Amino acid sequence: MKIIREINKMKTYARIMRKENKLIGFVPTMGYFHEGHLGLIKTARKQSDIVITSIFVNPIQFGPKEDFKKYPHDTKRDEELAKTCGVDVIFYPRKKDMYPDGFSTYVNVEGLTGNLCGKSRPSHFRGVTTVVMKLFEIIKPDIAYFGQKDAQQVFVIKKMVEDLNMDITMKIMPIAREEDGLAMSSRNVYLTKDERKDATLLCKALKMAEELINCGERNPKKIIKRMRNLILESQSARIDYISIVDTKSLKEVDTLRDEVLIALAAFIGKTRLIDNAILNVKETEKAYECEKSQKR
Ligand code: PAJ
Repeated sequence: MKIIREINKMKTYARIMRKENKLIGFVPTMGYFHEGHLGLIKTARKQSDIVITSIFVNPIQFGPKEDFKKYPHDTKRDEELAKTCGVDVIFYPRKKDMYPDGFSTYVNVEGLTGNLCGKSRPSHFRGVTTVVMKLFEIIKPDIAYFGQKDAQQVFVIKKMVEDLNMDITMKIMPIAREEDGLAMSSRNVYLTKDERKDATLLCKALKMAEELINCGERNPKKIIKRMRNLILESQSARIDYISIVDTKSLKEVDTLRDEVLIALAAFIGKTRLIDNAILNVKETEKAYECEKSQKR
């Protein structure tokens, strides 16, 4: 497994691989690997000739009061795990090379970035799309792998790829969860023992929403209220948002009809966690009808 830090070396390596007609799979990350990251890497390993993962804690996607300075890291462990999963190259660009003095070009996807996480983290997605665009330009992968855990990030990057006619196939992997349902996240390490228990309320709230919809509830406000009440059973929880949005526009829906994204962000203690679920209301209806007719 190669470790590359220089942008030019990374470009040269990727160029040589392309010349040899190797299919390049790319997994951008901020490190501190867990099964969520490793799932993306393992899929990339199956589907591509060359697997490149980047580890870069991107300063411009963190707000001034966020955890950039204390973002968890364990380089040695990440390298061992990457090696075990068959990664060919870890790309660790340096902050000063990615954002040299005078850096002034940003990529901004309008429309999809104003609500959900974009509301409480106003410059976050601009930071994400800028760094991902830079990494795509350096590596020029054939396939890029992202996790559904960061649902809005997926929508925003897909839109950037489409709008800018980029020749990259996006592959989205399902959310990797702990046994009790908590979505895996590098930030889970910040949770105290009690907070860790309370954090499961987030996925429980999503499960409850799913059940309510399965039972015929179509009013998003009622669903959100029930979710809110469940999460606030924990003294340590503070809700940032719970939204039910259309999966095309990411706009809130008045009634549940087609495919919706139920997304939430909440602080458990000082740690901000996100989780989501995509539900196809029509399919639930079909399944419900089918169940009803089977019972008849
Ligand atoms: P990071 O949080 O390290 O996540 C890297 C990738 O792993 C993202 O695509 C994310 O959605 C995916 N991921 C994280 N937790 C997951 C889980 N529980 N299940 C499935 N996939 C999961 O996301 C970022 O880094 C950054 O914003 C980045 C895209 C690298 C740009 O800086």
